[in-house]
Amino acid sequence: MSWAAACLLFVMSACQQEEAKPIYSGALWPDNTGVHVNAHGGGVLYHEGTYYWFGENKCDTTSNAMVGVMCYSSDNLTDWTNEGVALSVSDDESSDIVRGCIMERPKVVYNEKTGKFVMWFHLELKGKGYAAARAAVAVSDSPAGPYRLVGSGRVNPGKLPADMTAEARQAMDSLNLADFEKWWTPEWYEAIRKGLFIKRDLEGGQMSRDMTVFVDDDGKAYHIYSSEDNLTLHIAELSDDYLTHTGKYVRLAPAGHNEAPAIFKKDGTYWMITSGCTGWDPNEARMFSASSIWGPWTQHPNPCVGPKSEITFGGQSTYILKVPGKDNAFIFMADVWRPEKPSDARYIWLPIQFKEDGTPYVEWMDQWTLDFFNGK
Ligand code: GAL
Repeated sequence: MSWAAACLLFVMSACQQEEAKPIYSGALWPDNTGVHVNAHGGGVLYHEGTYYWFGENKCDTTSNAMVGVMCYSSDNLTDWTNEGVALSVSDDESSDIVRGCIMERPKVVYNEKTGKFVMWFHLELKGKGYAAARAAVAVSDSPAGPYRLVGSGRVNPGKLPADMTAEARQAMDSLNLADFEKWWTPEWYEAIRKGLFIKRDLEGGQMSRDMTVFVDDDGKAYHIYSSEDNLTLHIAELSDDYLTHTGKYVRLAPAGHNEAPAIFKKDGTYWMITSGCTGWDPNEARMFSASSIWGPWTQHPNPCVGPKSEITFGGQSTYILKVPGKDNAFIFMADVWRPEKPSDARYIWLPIQFKEDGTPYVEWMDQWTLDFFNGK
């Protein structure tokens, strides 16, 4: 082959290498069929070279679950193939997930020991608003599903938080729900901090709404959820098969009113980004860190910087994806809710950046590519 031909071949093969495509936050995100991805409040699982994006299917007129949890697959995080419904609602009125219930914030993790894919999500029973406050778990042999519902319920009935001392237990025992009928008073906040609602829900199990699941380096998994009427986050250990809770849990920011937890670990530090509680309206994100998942957790200022950082750029956190194969590459994922047309809700995906002292921050970018992480 001539030198010129070799050069041409080299240039051609370089051109064939796929260029990283831009991620546009807030825009429509067409799937392989040209339809906006319908996977809200979701998370991403990376398994054997493929990314799987799971999220709530939302229809045009209601946020209730009329379809179920969707799955999309991709090998580059920008081009998504609709894999269909991973966990379908049921037509059986006696099922916990009958069509018309509420299924929110699904997260899927892979269990190395059992070889199963495990999905946790927030479940509200049909026709009961947000009163049930249940966690639900489903399982599948393959990543895209179909998933089978294993069960649902409140969390850790009869169990006290592991970080509650004997003295604190006594202080909680002396609280009476009837003395705190008026909410939002300083005394009521103090009682919440002391575990008024832990005591109220001890027998039936703790409430579980906005949630995520985190698998640590040692394979242990944790369910992190808004409990105690969304006033306090709980971090609860899952069993080895990830299908139940072990009974061990701690409270994060008691009475701090945190929702939408998203977590990642970098250099031995756990970082958690959450939102406040303003329903579908965006608010200012919060951030916490700890050197052990069991705490103590320290609160930091809002991780978002720049214009609209006081409302998380219009979004609410849902997940933080560690991008495999790249150093210090984490993607902050959030939802821009559109309650007037739920299916039109948008996604915010932004790279997490780090200050010189190692503190994470998130800055708006109209568009960026995964190449952003190269050379970091
Ligand atoms: C949000 C929560 C969403 C959904 C919504 C319902 O605060 O993060 O997942 O539950 O409230 O109003």
